[in-house]
Amino acid sequence: MKILFIGDIVGEPGRRAVKTLAPKLREQHALDFVIANGENSAGGSGITPRTAGEIFSAGVDVITSGDHLWDQKEVMELLTNEKRFLRPLNYPADVPGRGSGVFEIPNSKLKIAVLNAQGRTFMPPLENPFLLAADEVMRLRGQTKIIFVDFHAEATSEKIAFARFLDGQVSAVVGTHTHVQTADEQIFPGGTAYLTDAGFSGPHESVLGRDIEPVIKRFLTGMPQRFEVAKNAVRLHGAVIEIDDASGKAIKIQRVSEAI
Ligand SMILES: [Fe+2]
Ligand SMILES: [Fe+2]
Repeated sequence: MKILFIGDIVGEPGRRAVKTLAPKLREQHALDFVIANGENSAGGSGITPRTAGEIFSAGVDVITSGDHLWDQKEVMELLTNEKRFLRPLNYPADVPGRGSGVFEIPNSKLKIAVLNAQGRTFMPPLENPFLLAADEVMRLRGQTKIIFVDFHAEATSEKIAFARFLDGQVSAVVGTHTHVQTADEQIFPGGTAYLTDAGFSGPHESVLGRDIEPVIKRFLTGMPQRFEVAKNAVRLHGAVIEIDDASGKAIKIQRVSEAI
């Protein structure tokens, strides 16, 4: 089976990239399942039922998130009512929402588990993602061997270590959060596909999706600035992963960087 993971969707341009390109990629790669990180889909900060609805309508099956989870208060509705929406697993247990889910693959008898976790290095403090993910993966493997992990983290060392730790237990670990696509896609010896960061979907004539000038001004002066979502050079970033149905091991991982 083949899945597409789409890196952080930033604002309206990011949603437009997904609407335009996800159906095209689905056909081109004969995709079975599409997962996208939506933490920046509402004006660049957070996610709402409306922006999530647009992303689902474009053919995305599951939306993951990260540290921008709480930026829009309407997210509570997604956390409590939307089973296709995941938040990082490593919040305390009584926080609304869930960090993983098992989903039916349309037109097949297969199931895919999707897990979302967040790193702790240069990030807000959460519970230990290594310990929680190990337990969760063990639980999920009782239901399916096809497991995709979005690890939302800043430090490359933490991301590589996390994926190496899960090698052989999950089909793929793809990183998000930095908004910069890395060129280190590979399959580890145990059969886990890996990419340190998927990049972001949105305007690339920017600083990580935001207008360039205010970001430079902030670095020059240290004064707070309004960071509006940029407009130009819209691209979809992500990765296509081919997985062996029976073993859940990855066969191939290919980066995607497609202009609108
Ligand atoms: Fe992001
Ligand atoms: Fe993030």
